[in-house]
Amino acid sequence: MTNSLYSHLECVQCGTHFNKYTLQNYCHTCIQPLVARYHLHNRIGKEIIRNTTNSMWRYQALLPLLNSDNIVSLGEGWTPLFPLHKSGKNLGVDHLFLKEEGGNPTGSFKARGIGLAVSKAKELNVHKFCIPTAGNAGSALSAYAAAMNGEAFIYMPEATPMVFHLDCEIMGAKVNKVRGSIRDAGIAMMQDNKDGKWWDVTTLKEPFRLEGKKTMGFEIAEQLNWELPDVIIYPTGGGTGLIGIWKAFEEMKEMGWVDHIPTRMVAVQTKGCNPVVRAFEAGLDHCDLYENPEETIANGLRVPKAFGDKLIMKTLKESHGTAFDVTEEEIIASIKEFGRTEGVFLSPEGAAVYSGLKKLIENGFIQKSDKVVIINTGSPYKYVENMYGILKN
Ligand SMILES: Cc1ncc(COP(=O)(O)O)c(C=O)c1O
Ligand SMILES: [Zn+2]
Repeated sequence: MTNSLYSHLECVQCGTHFNKYTLQNYCHTCIQPLVARYHLHNRIGKEIIRNTTNSMWRYQALLPLLNSDNIVSLGEGWTPLFPLHKSGKNLGVDHLFLKEEGGNPTGSFKARGIGLAVSKAKELNVHKFCIPTAGNAGSALSAYAAAMNGEAFIYMPEATPMVFHLDCEIMGAKVNKVRGSIRDAGIAMMQDNKDGKWWDVTTLKEPFRLEGKKTMGFEIAEQLNWELPDVIIYPTGGGTGLIGIWKAFEEMKEMGWVDHIPTRMVAVQTKGCNPVVRAFEAGLDHCDLYENPEETIANGLRVPKAFGDKLIMKTLKESHGTAFDVTEEEIIASIKEFGRTEGVFLSPEGAAVYSGLKKLIENGFIQKSDKVVIINTGSPYKYVENMYGILKN
């Protein structure tokens, strides 16, 4: 057993409660995500954290798994958060930090969400999974499915770097390459899964990947001695990380671990696929489909329509955050600049974040005294095929 405070699942739109002992995907009335709720109150102390566990499972009291025998772990989470003194000085920000997610199993933060989804699936006796992916989530699902003796069926855009395909196959998954974007991959997957033989773990159509991503929020807080940052900049595709970090902060507030949440959440996208930025600028509470998304070296950001779009917009609004886009040239320049300055090779998505940071300093959104966390969501090494020629010049 765990010391989990998990209570129930709830539709984000109509508030209906769903049974936690049976398999649930999303609210079929509202076509909106379900989120996990916990028995929280302000007398819960931080001693519920298992601080001898150096993985995301240190927060298992605030995660939905009921029996720890069901944990399928490859060592996900508890990644470093470290100060960027040189960049901070160069850019004029006193407290700048990098959350480095590239050391996670299969090289990205996707291991957190998928690790939790697969563990919870094991608890509910599910062993066959399918997913549309920009790459990293497919690698993670292949790994965790292998670890639990399950099966994974992966659908990825043709333009995904080859190493992701190899990665999935090495771990025993079946890979389908689909012409178009992750959205087209999702449509092809649903066609093959009409009879529901596989458990669909598409971002936010399944409630528990969000809970895994939430652990990034707890970690950032714990690593900053429970003083939340003023700004977090996040590369946004499906948006689970952005929503999850904010959810962690809200839960911390409910438990009285912080008095208020000062953090402004920032979503970064690419100019060639920026549905969140467009919606933010238009003041919408949802995103419209982005037709014909352009290819980008930041594969994870090419998401023309996220299932959790309303939650993304709500998070930006409630946190007084913002959204903006960056060009391919800016991403490439940032990879080079950051590598030379900090000795850290960023993934293209992480470089989009760094480009964003510079813009936000320029336009005054970030002040000198702000405490800012930028997130490098994955390892750059899987993208070498995208980057080799460009970076050499
Ligand atoms: C490295 C990387 N960063 C960011 C993202 C976008 O993440 P999210 O779907 O949580 O917005 C992805 C998604 O594929 C990714 O692989
Ligand atoms: Zn509903």
